[in-house]
Amino acid sequence: MRLRGRKGIRENLEEQTDLVVLDPRSYKGQWSKLFGNDHPIYVEFGMGKGQFISRMSHRYPEINFIGIDMYDELIRRASEKARDIWEPEGVTTPPNLKLALANIEYAEEVFAEGELERIYLNFSDPWPKSKHARRRLTHPRFLEKYRMLLNPLGEIHQKTDSRSLFEFSLNAFADFGLQMTNISLDLHAGGINEEHVMTEYETKFVGQGIQIHRCEAIVGADALERYKASRLDKYRM
Ligand SMILES: C[S@@+](CC[C@H](N)C(=O)[O-])C[C@H]1O[C@@H](n2cnc3c(N)ncnc32)[C@H](O)[C@@H]1O
Repeated sequence: MRLRGRKGIRENLEEQTDLVVLDPRSYKGQWSKLFGNDHPIYVEFGMGKGQFISRMSHRYPEINFIGIDMYDELIRRASEKARDIWEPEGVTTPPNLKLALANIEYAEEVFAEGELERIYLNFSDPWPKSKHARRRLTHPRFLEKYRMLLNPLGEIHQKTDSRSLFEFSLNAFADFGLQMTNISLDLHAGGINEEHVMTEYETKFVGQGIQIHRCEAIVGADALERYKASRLDKYRM
């Protein structure tokens, strides 16, 4: 289903009720029902044009994905990307993907406590001036929200090209008492891993030779137990 054309953006989005959610607050606590199953829900906060979340939904059918952005035009672009990715298989409605118009400032009005299993923060705006630190998506005031929204297996996965945002984030995760793992200062140093799903910004930065930083922060108690068990196995080897 191609929806490019003469229509206004809002009209276009309103027609895509199978994929686009314009009133995400009405699904608080009801996202599993919307997907029609109880698979884990992974969310990208600030998905932009949606390459990452669409490819992830295609690659991992047993996970439900939600891409969030606050701009209509980006939701429209992401909807085109999603349909392009699924179209070759004759799938018109990606079964495990929703694209939602929302401001992350109000994430707790969109998701219920423990409703999410993973939050992706990919190339979030770095807000380099210290007077804007509160707007960074890894500021403790956001981490507080994420902790509430994530379930016992909950994790936050961050990628960024911004060294200052990365430093800030690592410190915020540590101050918040979160276990960090899989920290990389130059994710693609050894070459591009085909298994790695790239975002639009990542594709652009990698093409320019810019280093990508990555980190996982473990939030949920069960995720922490799982992590500890895996570490013990690793060092036993
Ligand atoms: C730099 S782009 C990165 C896009 C994408 N994740 C990528 O890696 O290609 C950041 C995105 O976050 C969105 N964003 C920033 N603050 C937001 C907020 N408070 N709520 C929802 N989206 C937000 C912006 O609209 C933009 O699309």
